[in-house]
Amino acid sequence: MQLTKTDLFTFIHKALRSLIYGLGSKLQTADFSSELESKNIVSILRHDLGLLHEHADHEDNIIFPEVKNEEPEMIKVLENEHIEIGEKLNVLNNILDLLQNETESKIRLKLGNELNFLFNDFAASYLNHMNHEESTVLEASQKYLSDEELIAIRTRIQTKIPPERYRIWLDWMLRSANITELIGLLNAMKINAPKPVFDNIISTAEKIIEPSRWELIKEKIGS
Ligand SMILES: [Fe+2]
Repeated sequence: MQLTKTDLFTFIHKALRSLIYGLGSKLQTADFSSELESKNIVSILRHDLGLLHEHADHEDNIIFPEVKNEEPEMIKVLENEHIEIGEKLNVLNNILDLLQNETESKIRLKLGNELNFLFNDFAASYLNHMNHEESTVLEASQKYLSDEELIAIRTRIQTKIPPERYRIWLDWMLRSANITELIGLLNAMKINAPKPVFDNIISTAEKIIEPSRWELIKEKIGS
């Protein structure tokens, strides 16, 4: 008998947390007096903030509707948090637009400080929101939906993402999980995924996970 059902949140949330921690660290050490470095950090932020936005979109459109009938109030609160996060994202994107074309070093430094401050506020909200989801809708999804339904939802999300974009998500997920989670994930994929897909995941994992951890994982999944 299967003891735990498919978890639609933990892996992806860990990936998003890694992404947020990394961005915060890059942002607070970035040299906005340099035009080149400013442009570089702007493009990294645009890309990564796009992933954070995309994730909320998947939850709003694919996961939440599946639990909404049973838990309308819970989902309403989480949807409102998504709206607040979306507003904070818009403010960040406006600053990125200003920074992108700013040629004066002094103004870039000022915008850089503002960006840091607002990113920290955004990150705090996003981190808090993910914990909130894990203590509410994660449990609700496993309570109301069968494992087949949960897997079907995951597949719908995966098929909505173009393959090259999915590789970016996979990369972040593989980097962000612990060994026990990785062994569970790869073993499940070994059983459920078509062989070429599984082989592709293994070759990605081999490149991303540091060799000492990978050796331990390989032993457990017999790959
Ligand atoms: Fe969310």
